[in-house]
Amino acid sequence: MQQLRLMAGSANRNLAEEVAKRLNVRLTPTDIRRFPDGEIYVRILESVRGADVFLIQPTCPDANLNLMELLITVDALKRSSPQKITAVIPYYGYSRQDRKNKPREPISAKLVAKMIEAAGVDRVITFDLHVAQVQGFFDIHSDNLDLIPLYVEHILSRKLRNIVFIAPDVGGASRARAIANVIHAPIAIIDKRRSENSNKPIIENIIGEVKGKTCIIIDDIIDSGGTITEASALLRKQGAKDIYVYATHAVLSGDAAKKLEKSEIKEVVFTDTIKLPGEKQIKKMKIISIAPFLAETISRAHEGTPMGTVYEKLYKKIGKMSKDGRK
Ligand code: R5P
Repeated sequence: MQQLRLMAGSANRNLAEEVAKRLNVRLTPTDIRRFPDGEIYVRILESVRGADVFLIQPTCPDANLNLMELLITVDALKRSSPQKITAVIPYYGYSRQDRKNKPREPISAKLVAKMIEAAGVDRVITFDLHVAQVQGFFDIHSDNLDLIPLYVEHILSRKLRNIVFIAPDVGGASRARAIANVIHAPIAIIDKRRSENSNKPIIENIIGEVKGKTCIIIDDIIDSGGTITEASALLRKQGAKDIYVYATHAVLSGDAAKKLEKSEIKEVVFTDTIKLPGEKQIKKMKIISIAPFLAETISRAHEGTPMGTVYEKLYKKIGKMSKDGRK
């Protein structure tokens, strides 16, 4: 079997280091620098000839910079004769630009996929894409992994009662439903639209019962924090007991972290697909690491064994937990 090589771009080195520890490999050294004019320079400092290379680089803010660094690193790899290059993109920037809403708009999520392919990537691994269809923008092998078992395990460990899962918009209903189905809980859907001029979320109605319930909002991204804070204010107004949020990608632009701190939310749980700087970490925030799951995923991809086996293991654990919870 080809040698497994793990590499990190500069967007989330902490995550890559955690994965490396779990895989018992070291990160292949690189020299990643910026020229005075802002251009990016990348050199791989060891031979990767014939290797099965996994490069971890989310295209989180600064999305353009991190995307460009990903492309340049792949180009450097391509010219170093590895057997296969897998781009592990824990957060896929531009994923929300997945369709034409108005005339003369781009479909940037597709353009980015084409750029990644053109650079020479053989396979991509992503997590909780904004919509699963974005996976279809790639013509190379791709795995878009959901993190449902990780969330379910975390929720069950808290022994919460009288739960309702909340989709913060119609598009998020399938995500909330998927988790609710595992826990056998109901869902409610928030009727959200965006203001034409300011793009601010307008949230006025909830479809479903939330009064007196423990509400768990499920979302993929928290960016400005507008959706989640407006949603939690309305939930509280309609009699929700406690409000928790589980969101995969902590984009947290501008003062989003402060908004969350001041909001009605009791606790917000993110994953570490995006590295959070200290100033964005607030007391009511918890981080679940995807490192163990990602390490297993990489290991399966390297061995060529089905990804389903990772999920089977996790769901077995959950099955046991939910049985214990019912006792
Ligand atoms: C929307 O479709 C997404 O799932 C998120 O709810 C949205 O991108 C969050 O953005 P913001 O935090 O800026 O409201």
